[in-house]
Amino acid sequence: MARPPDPAAVFRQVAAAAKYAGLDEGFVHRIAAEASARFRDQNAAVKYAKRKLHQAVGAFETGSPGNAVRACIAAIESGVPVRDACRAAMCAHASTAERAAVLDPFYRQIETWCGRPSTVADLACGLSPLAIPWLAMGPDATYWCCDVDRDLTAALPGLGEPLGVIVQTEARDLIAPGRLPPAELVLLLKTVTTLELQRSGAARELLAGLDATQVVASLPRNSLSARRRYADDPVETIRKATAGTGYVVADQADLDGEALFLLERADR
Ligand SMILES: C[S@@+](CC[C@H](N)C(=O)[O-])C[C@H]1O[C@@H](n2cnc3c(N)ncnc32)[C@H](O)[C@@H]1O
Repeated sequence: MARPPDPAAVFRQVAAAAKYAGLDEGFVHRIAAEASARFRDQNAAVKYAKRKLHQAVGAFETGSPGNAVRACIAAIESGVPVRDACRAAMCAHASTAERAAVLDPFYRQIETWCGRPSTVADLACGLSPLAIPWLAMGPDATYWCCDVDRDLTAALPGLGEPLGVIVQTEARDLIAPGRLPPAELVLLLKTVTTLELQRSGAARELLAGLDATQVVASLPRNSLSARRRYADDPVETIRKATAGTGYVVADQADLDGEALFLLERADR
């Protein structure tokens, strides 16, 4: 007989899987609660929660991103050139790896738009902090970043010393309530769709709550599996995500399969 789902039990079952044990607990509790509310059967809720976690996190991780960061730091300390070490380490995260061939034009475009910000917030960062050597920043800059992967966010501050930037991190669910730190530049790379798949309207809510002068948002042109084009019209996706937030699209560019948008506050 079907057993009605208990959110705490769904959480325990999902968190017991090695690949999800390192995720932010609040994030996994939210997914477990949403899955429990959706199904009448515990097994169906667990299955759904695992699918959502795969879609949100597991699908992008081609290795351990935390280990990749630690290996990158060790490689730099052993004399490997900084950019070579960073580029090599990016392959543990599919989204970041897809950008590895276009790092120069990608971050040159951001510099053209945003100059040299002193405070950057990288939301749902994955391994994109490994691109710090390509990102123009002011002196004594602070790079704040967050993701739901706790092992990754624990490893990232170690990049600060070899890269000469203050790197601050937080394990954090961007759909949970709470303010983000103010920043001159917010990076929201390939994350609008990830959040919208978790909760419709989440990207718009996030943007509405930001305290940032400029936001660079990007959308992948194709899904990872290439089965479905989920950003058939990136312009329309961004229009929906910015509607009523105070941000408008100031410019856009295309970088090898990634649609890049500069968002600025309409009232500044
Ligand atoms: C498509 S990847 C983008 C990674 C990175 N921004 C980049 O472009 O290289 C999406 C990232 O969002 C993170 N993520 C998924 N859901 C999240 C949430 N609710 N809050 C914070 N991060 C989340 C995943 O762990 C993953 O690293």
